[in-house]
Amino acid sequence: MTDFSAWTQACQARIEGVLAECLPASRIAPQRLHEAMRYAVLGGGKRVRPLLAFAAGEVSGADVGRVQHAAAAVELIHAYSLVHDDMPAMDDDALRRGKPTVHVEFDEATALLVGDALQSLAFDILASQPLADDAATQLKMVQLLAQASGSRGMAGGQAIDLASVGKPLDLTELEFMHIHKTGALIRAAVLLGAHCGSLDETAHTSLDHYAKCIGLAFQVVDDVLDAEASTATLGKTAGKDAADNKPTYVSLLGVTRARELAQELRADAHAALAELGAPAERLRQLADFVVERTF
Ligand code: IPE
Ligand code: IPE
Ligand code: MG
Ligand code: MG
Ligand code: MG
Repeated sequence: MTDFSAWTQACQARIEGVLAECLPASRIAPQRLHEAMRYAVLGGGKRVRPLLAFAAGEVSGADVGRVQHAAAAVELIHAYSLVHDDMPAMDDDALRRGKPTVHVEFDEATALLVGDALQSLAFDILASQPLADDAATQLKMVQLLAQASGSRGMAGGQAIDLASVGKPLDLTELEFMHIHKTGALIRAAVLLGAHCGSLDETAHTSLDHYAKCIGLAFQVVDDVLDAEASTATLGKTAGKDAADNKPTYVSLLGVTRARELAQELRADAHAALAELGAPAERLRQLADFVVERTF
């Protein structure tokens, strides 16, 4: 097995190529919108969701040519969520992935449309690329991503986030918010990757449990890094949650306890993979990366 960093680099290069190909060229009208879509998606980001899709595809024996399109669809939804998250009506951020945010580099109306168009493109890809052995499974995949993105998934979590500014949430409320705004898409990445191949019901349940644990862990760590890391390493403005009075795992529990919780979630994620053996090794490494990352 190649080492983890070689594997991630290969997957990142692959997803970059697929995304570059799926996104309309900037010379095609409307040029400015297409340029802004490419600006939002290409050349940045850790690509954690695609990595999870590829790793889950390894467990289900999926063809990587299929997984790469499922992975691209999730990453497009994620990129759209970041563009909107940064807009003045939401977090009002000027820096993302080390570059000016889309509404700063272009304008607000363009940023809105970039999000709209990336979302549509994600579903176009899911509907038009061959991803599964049968049409019913592929339709289920479309539904999975729709539910993960919508009002009972990411968009709903974002609504709760905005409604919670200045309010001290309790642990249950905070967990509910994080599971939705971030966990839902991460779970979708794992499940979509798995659906490109085949797995029995028990293995699906294990992967689902794994995905829920690391989805929550991902946002707990995002909260910790917002408090502890620098703007330069994050490529986005550090210290923003406290400045904006957002309820986070750090504001509720403090950094030490938040980090411990992330470690507990990592252990749960590993335990969920116990029966899946060697093919789940990349997923184990990704759980470690999600919790131990510094950016
Ligand atoms: C940031 O996500 C927003 C959250 C959901 C926490 P990432 O940390 O995955 O951002 P990129 O894609 O690497 O820029
Ligand atoms: C963002 O959460 C979640 C989504 C974009 C859905 P944050 O607002 O904490 O993400 P960052 O810190 O700006 O990347
Ligand atoms: Mg936000
Ligand atoms: Mg934000
Ligand atoms: Mg954050």
